[in-house]
Amino acid sequence: MAIERLGIVGSGIMGSGIAEVASRAGVTVVLRSRKQETADAMLLALDRSLSRQVDRGKLEEAEATAVRNRVSATADLEALAGCDLVVESVVEDIDVKKQLFAELDRVVRDGAILATNTSTLPVVEMAVKTARPERVVGIHFFNPAPAMDLVEIVRTLVSSDETVAEAVAFAEACGKDPVVVEDRAGFIVNALLFPYLNNAVRMLENRTASRDDIDAAMKGGCNFPMGPLALLDLVGLDTSVSILDALYTEFRDPNYAAVPQLRRMVAAGHLGRKSGQGFYGYATK
Ligand SMILES: NC(=O)c1ccc[n+]([C@@H]2O[C@H](COP(=O)([O-])OP(=O)(O)OC[C@H]3O[C@@H](n4cnc5c(N)ncnc54)[C@H](O)[C@@H]3O)[C@@H](O)[C@H]2O)c1
Repeated sequence: MAIERLGIVGSGIMGSGIAEVASRAGVTVVLRSRKQETADAMLLALDRSLSRQVDRGKLEEAEATAVRNRVSATADLEALAGCDLVVESVVEDIDVKKQLFAELDRVVRDGAILATNTSTLPVVEMAVKTARPERVVGIHFFNPAPAMDLVEIVRTLVSSDETVAEAVAFAEACGKDPVVVEDRAGFIVNALLFPYLNNAVRMLENRTASRDDIDAAMKGGCNFPMGPLALLDLVGLDTSVSILDALYTEFRDPNYAAVPQLRRMVAAGHLGRKSGQGFYGYATK
């Protein structure tokens, strides 16, 4: 089954990015947010992103208009009923996601695939909240979704081969390079990346080096495009703590235990780029 109509739940960093990726691939997208204002804000963010690309000569004006016209935004979950695939990208909280899967199962047509963009949480726990666990997979995009090539397709113990194959085909149709991974916390990338990010904060906390020197060292020494503290700001510090907590719960490895400074920054509302303040300061929109 080719995916012609995609539903996205969640109006954060990732939800709007995935909408842009899919609509640019010719897919009709219905974005659902809890409030109509935030749903509308997602459309504005999409407009801004498309305009930037037109200004840079990366996209024709007519194509930008076509992409924009394929996306609608709603606060009504029932509007997702006719979708071939729904990807949820709400807050990284297993209870919220489990409840959402039960609701999506009730609303979305039989046979459609229900997917999660979770970074670390057990996909099977969401699958078993539905009457179609074989039609549930992880489709994990990376941030920023329009720019990052990788998509991890997460197969649970009960996902059907057909569902996994359709998810892979969808990611390819979006111009991405999918890999298939079993349902383990952090999948491939975050399981390997987060001990590094967490230890960078530990190093800052221990005053081993300054923020700028830690980031400069990893850029210059490993040829990484950004340093670990700047990357944490991009991911979001609240999301990062949730990811570390899920990894620690699963593996009990101390490298996954979020360092105190990270938690304190979240408590202070310093969430990174999205709040305007993280390890660095950002101009708010
Ligand atoms: N930030 C990243 O780099 C990144 C990358 C890949 C995947 N993800 C995953 O994508 C998902 C969303 O992350 P994000 O970075 O877009 O987060 P975000 O904080 O930008 O957005 C979270 C969204 O969830 C909504 N939300 C919060 N509580 C809710 C509730 N109780 N019910 C329904 N919706 C609720 C918020 O309104 C917001 O729209 C998470 O599962 C995260 O792990 C994040």
